Amino acid sequence: METKHFLINEHRERNIDQAANLLRQGELVAFPTETVYGLGADATNFQAVQKIFKAKGRPSDNPLIVHVARKEQLYEFVKDVPVYVKQLIDAFSPGPITYVLQSKENVASNVTAGLSTVAVRIPDNDIALSLLTACDLPIAAPSANTSGHPSPTSAEHVLQDLNGKIAGVLDGGPTQVGVESTVVDCTGEKPIILRLGKITAEDIKKVLQINPVSVYEEEVEKPKSPGLKYKHYAPEIPLYLVTTTKNIQTIIEQKRKKGYRVGALVSDQTVEQISADKIISIGENEEEMATNLYHALRSFKKNEIDLIICESFPTKSVGKAVMDRLSRAASKTL
Ligand code: TXA
Ligand code: MG
Repeated sequence: METKHFLINEHRERNIDQAANLLRQGELVAFPTETVYGLGADATNFQAVQKIFKAKGRPSDNPLIVHVARKEQLYEFVKDVPVYVKQLIDAFSPGPITYVLQSKENVASNVTAGLSTVAVRIPDNDIALSLLTACDLPIAAPSANTSGHPSPTSAEHVLQDLNGKIAGVLDGGPTQVGVESTVVDCTGEKPIILRLGKITAEDIKKVLQINPVSVYEEEVEKPKSPGLKYKHYAPEIPLYLVTTTKNIQTIIEQKRKKGYRVGALVSDQTVEQISADKIISIGENEEEMATNLYHALRSFKKNEIDLIICESFPTKSVGKAVMDRLSRAASKTL
């Protein structure tokens, strides 16, 4: 299959209409959101959703997020909605947050991987919203990468993984947030964060005035978000995450002495002090680091580098999500 590359700067309306038509015909189209690129299919069409699992090589027990354009549409797919959910929706949607609620079971059964709950979200991106409005369908969309690879933050990343396997990609340039949405389990009396993202426990606490907002501890509990049990966000090559105060340059030297070609993933502040075979600096604050993280992980190539040494970054806000993704990508901590 030839993957159509729709450049959004040219013929915006026509390109969005063509992409929407493909979705209505049961084809897969990747599109930008404010977080990462999503791989969309008609959430009411079982066969179309099945194509997502096939193109990504995604385990069938890992459910998908349903994307809609408007707040009223969120309520069409969920039931038993606690009062606090409306407050969260009013405060944060459209935005980088996903709500897990009891499903009305009016989407295809493979979207929810047979669970009684469904994840829903309104992306805060003009192209995504225009596409959702044009096709007038709920769209199931995981991140548009091959399962296990870092999520795509540009159309180029989507094509690296899925060229020839999907009908098209709407190219809206690089995404802003850079890490996936915060996933919140809203099936109980209080919300529980299942996946960290730009919207933090603090942000939620402020809106709901409850204390504390819990973050799901997978180590002690059984994974509640099925996706969390799979190794994620891994670059092509082993990544060692430095979580202690050990000097990163000393570690790099040790590895190089053993003959390894070493890549370094560091902040703008550290970059001056580093010498390695390839150095990528991902920014000077948490927001920049989130935006650049996945592009950086994809930039280290097997033919240039044998392993990546990555420092730990600040974690006041979205930095927590950055460190969460890095610790999942890491084969080792030092
Ligand atoms: O920012 C995002 O959320 C992006 C963009 C494209 O919207 N999407 C995304 O989708 O990251 P995906 O499929 O890569 O991650 C969805 C996560 C998975 O960890 C999945 O297990 C979880 O949400 N999830 C989906 N439905 C769920 C449910 N009913 N209960 C618990 N977790 C659920
Ligand atoms: Mg994903």
